[in-house]
Amino acid sequence: MAEQRILMEFGSEPGQQNIDTYEKNGGYQAIKKAIPAIKPDDLIGMVKTSGLRGRGGAGFSTGMKWGFVPKDPPSPKYVVCNCDESEPGTFKDRWLIEHDPHQLIEGVILACYAIGAKRGFIYTRGEFFGGLVILRKAIAEAKERGYIGEKILGTDISIDIMVHPGAGAYIAGEETSQLNSLEGYRATPRLKPPFPAVSGLYSCPTVVNNVETLCNVVHIVNRGVEWYLGIGKPKNSGTKIFQVSGHVQRPGCYEFPLGVKLSEVLEVAGGMLPGRKFKACYPGGSSCSLLTAKDIDISMDFESLEANSSALGTASIIVMDDSADMVKVAHRLMQFYQNESCGKCTPCREGTRWVVQVLARIEAGGGTEKDLELINDVCIEMAANSFCPLAVGAAPPVISAIVEFRDEFVAYIKKNPNAEKPQKMRIAYPYL
Ligand SMILES: Cc1cc2nc3c(=O)[nH]c(=O)nc-3n(C[C@H](O)[C@H](O)[C@H](O)COP(=O)(O)O)c2cc1C
Ligand code: SF4
Repeated sequence: MAEQRILMEFGSEPGQQNIDTYEKNGGYQAIKKAIPAIKPDDLIGMVKTSGLRGRGGAGFSTGMKWGFVPKDPPSPKYVVCNCDESEPGTFKDRWLIEHDPHQLIEGVILACYAIGAKRGFIYTRGEFFGGLVILRKAIAEAKERGYIGEKILGTDISIDIMVHPGAGAYIAGEETSQLNSLEGYRATPRLKPPFPAVSGLYSCPTVVNNVETLCNVVHIVNRGVEWYLGIGKPKNSGTKIFQVSGHVQRPGCYEFPLGVKLSEVLEVAGGMLPGRKFKACYPGGSSCSLLTAKDIDISMDFESLEANSSALGTASIIVMDDSADMVKVAHRLMQFYQNESCGKCTPCREGTRWVVQVLARIEAGGGTEKDLELINDVCIEMAANSFCPLAVGAAPPVISAIVEFRDEFVAYIKKNPNAEKPQKMRIAYPYL
């Protein structure tokens, strides 16, 4: 299957960040078509019928989410565009804001119009300095042309958009943590329900959507629902930006219809490095289970990956060849989750640290085979009893590495038979 660039069609053109080039390439036609000609409820209906599913990881129906927002609440409503993008292997939203910022701005305007919000926020990862500058310039240009601000496009509708940089924390990508952060508090998750659509930013109805999700809306409005439904697979309409990183010849962003085969994406990314063989990949970012060579022709869509005990997630394919050391991979990833655990709940705060310690001792040659069962137990308890999905995502990358490559873990354990074999886990409290 060949690439089909829709969201990425013009992003590689020089100057696409400027409003003139964006308009020359058909930009801001979607809002002109929709506002006020398409009624907000009809726009929500269109997005629902198009089958668009959130591109931030969970794959929830965007139209349904918009439909949950109360029609006439006494309070304001908000749209928050999630551009935190801190999961290892994920870099499509950065590409979109740096290469085609107006496409996102147009998507945010459409979302605000659909739910009746007067203000949209784009929450960017703290480290996205370049993207932040590009977005702010693009917002200023859009304001100057009357696409955002008071009475846009000569109507009575006013929509303002601002960019808010975070301070660089993975948990700030979780939607309720992001709302806390936007309000000026520490980015820790809130209990759900209530869901943000009912009680979100400042306890007001709020839609939180991913960058790629909102960019899709522009094209659904421009080219129609039928056209969109014709791309991809049933329940998986549209294209997806696959981010390929690791041991391939041409790492980067590639856009394909949902349902493309994993092997086809890897081929377009240049295939494996010379003389190397595919060993495994995380197909949906670091928070999912590994796929191995037997899965190379799997269909990259939400259901097929779930049926294979993995997930499409953010479609960030982290590729490893036969030189990869799976013990080191598991150890490094769990270190990431330990560092990024916000500390609010005990199973995640302690569990990630315990697993890091056990993996460290296996890597140092001091482990036992029982440690592998211990890691499995801690991961399962952690995922089952934690407050938010961060810990749920921390378990599969490590458990699947042990299931698929147990012999590599055992080899480390057997490598150093004279190493100390601790009977119980030692927990080093730094403050004691
Ligand atoms: C730890 C964690 C990090 C997340 N990071 C992001 C992120 O960077 N960007 C994003 O869009 N969604 C992220 N999500 C998912 C959001 O909570 C939310 O589901 C998403 O923004 C909804 O948008 P969508 O419906 O358009 O996918 C994260 C979730 C978790 C648990
Ligand atoms: S699972 Fe608990 S400690 Fe971990 S990030 Fe979520 S709330 Fe914080």
